[in-house]
Amino acid sequence: MTQYKLAFIGFGNVGQALARLLERKRTELAARYDLSFLSVAIITGRHGAAIDPQGLDIQRALKIIANDDNLNELSTRATPKSMLDFIHASQADVLFENTPVNYENGQPAVGHLQAALELGMHAITANKGPVVHAYQQLTQLAASKGKRFLFESTVMDGAPIFSLFRSALPAAQLLSFQGIFNSTTNLILTRMETGESFAEAVAYAQSIGIAETDPSGDIDGWDAAIKVAALVNVLMGVAVKPAQVTREGIRHITSEQVRRSLAQGKRYKLVCSARRTPQGVQAQVAPELVGADSPMYNVMGTTSIAQFETDVLGQLSLIEADPGPHTTAYGLLADFVNAVQPI
Ligand SMILES: NC(=O)c1ccc[n+]([C@@H]2O[C@H](COP(=O)([O-])OP(=O)(O)OC[C@H]3O[C@@H](n4cnc5c(N)ncnc54)[C@H](OP(=O)(O)O)[C@@H]3O)[C@@H](O)[C@H]2O)c1
Repeated sequence: MTQYKLAFIGFGNVGQALARLLERKRTELAARYDLSFLSVAIITGRHGAAIDPQGLDIQRALKIIANDDNLNELSTRATPKSMLDFIHASQADVLFENTPVNYENGQPAVGHLQAALELGMHAITANKGPVVHAYQQLTQLAASKGKRFLFESTVMDGAPIFSLFRSALPAAQLLSFQGIFNSTTNLILTRMETGESFAEAVAYAQSIGIAETDPSGDIDGWDAAIKVAALVNVLMGVAVKPAQVTREGIRHITSEQVRRSLAQGKRYKLVCSARRTPQGVQAQVAPELVGADSPMYNVMGTTSIAQFETDVLGQLSLIEADPGPHTTAYGLLADFVNAVQPI
């Protein structure tokens, strides 16, 4: 059985959900793929770092984070101060990068993934920044090292979008796509249909941990725009930065408008779209009124949808219900299996 050493950079909601899922799937990974793993390194922002080449006690690591304590007590050796030295010292085979997204330049995650690939590790992330700011560079580096740079969870969490086009749709050309990629805004618009004001709906999304303390990244369409840019970069082969996606958020929509439109058979949705045109790819995020004839009409709450138009299959849709860190974790686990055992 092949054993892989795993390193985690970032051990927040996603990193912890991945660690739990890996433990839950340990027996199945061994039985179905003859694959085992040791979690040898974890590094965080404010909760310390730990390295143990014999394998860290993951249950203890999860408890330490839950108690807001420091991971250093788990470490069997001194942990280097610099991140690049830490990645080197981990001696891992696979690096999972799950630190917060940087919309502007993708750092420091790009540097973490680059360092891992240069050291001969597979590099896997749920962080959108590196995909929109360094997709070509990291993919070429990975190829030159015979390793993989994979990022399934960056758009629609664990739903298989990138692997769908990579593996299941050979020679298909993506002509256009549209969808609902931001759960927070879809939940807010859903709550506003029941009479909540915009502020009340935002407060609800924050109270259940969906929206951040500063929800502007979602409300103003930045999260949706970076996902559109990621899909255009990877699936359409056109380098587009989030700032080049025409973007309008939902801040100005009132619950009166939402309810009046609903009475007329239309729902507000924050629609993400891109289309190849003779002038290049046109990509945008904007609120739209959709009718019951659209598959987006019944996509409510935190559920997401992607509709793809290809030159071979016509319309193809994926719907992901109730996403969260657990589904994001599955995308990372799928990337791990696909990286070490490509089909
Ligand atoms: N949540 C989801 O369901 C979801 C879905 C798709 C994609 N993503 C993406 O996944 C990534 C992680 O999301 P999350 O929800 O897990 O975020 P999170 O809960 O805020 O966790 C972030 C982790 O990164 C650590 N960190 C921050 N800056 C760091 C640095 N410079 N070096 C090393 N570690 C650092 C934090 O440490 P401290 O807490 O100790 O500061 C924490 O462990 C993000 O890029 C996000 O956009 C998340």
